[in-house]
Amino acid sequence: MEASGDDALVERAVQFYFINRTVWSGRVVYDPARRSRLYFSNPGGWSRIERKLAHLRDCSEKLRRVRITCLPFERCLRGLRPDDFVYADPPYYRDSLDAPTSKLYEGHFAIEQHELLRDLLADTPAKVMVSYDDRPEVRELYRGSGWRIIPLAWKYCGRYAKSNRDRAAGRKERKVTGRELLIVSYDPPAAEA
Ligand SMILES: C[S@@+](CC[C@H](N)C(=O)[O-])C[C@H]1O[C@@H](n2cnc3c(N)ncnc32)[C@H](O)[C@@H]1O
Repeated sequence: MEASGDDALVERAVQFYFINRTVWSGRVVYDPARRSRLYFSNPGGWSRIERKLAHLRDCSEKLRRVRITCLPFERCLRGLRPDDFVYADPPYYRDSLDAPTSKLYEGHFAIEQHELLRDLLADTPAKVMVSYDDRPEVRELYRGSGWRIIPLAWKYCGRYAKSNRDRAAGRKERKVTGRELLIVSYDPPAAEA
């Protein structure tokens, strides 16, 4: 029998969470028009369910008084005050230059949107942090007074197989080192030693 009401919602949430934990990089939406990363690369991701439930409980505690919205950035940035903090994680700049089949996101940014976002962030009285892929175009976009650019590097957690044959054999590429930028509009506190 098909679940209805709250049961149906819970079932949907469990299905979402199962896919999110077991596919490559947690991708859940399958879009045949784009290069798909939705394959079950992480079957071990469904083990140790008791740890997952504890983590979900911690998250629900933290999100208790949080309001989640899904809006274009122009609307999210309206009416901010000096004691607000904005963390913006826009689509990678590289994604705006890639061929349509390589796009990473459903919501895609044209180059002008990167510029519009920068202009709105520059105008807001709130404190701002933005993260981006480390590219000359991004450094140029945020060059000038008011912005501090902090280069960072870390290993991405996702690893992929180069071919279907490698995937079938469980052969994966080494983890890739990502180079990104944190761009802030304020003096960041000194990192602890
Ligand atoms: C780098 S991802 C952010 C990932 C996010 N920080 C996370 O951890 O899941 C960029 C996001 O910007 C969203 N996006 C694209 N166009 C947007 C727009 N006009 N306004 C707001 N968000 C947009 C994309 O859908 C994508 O989820």
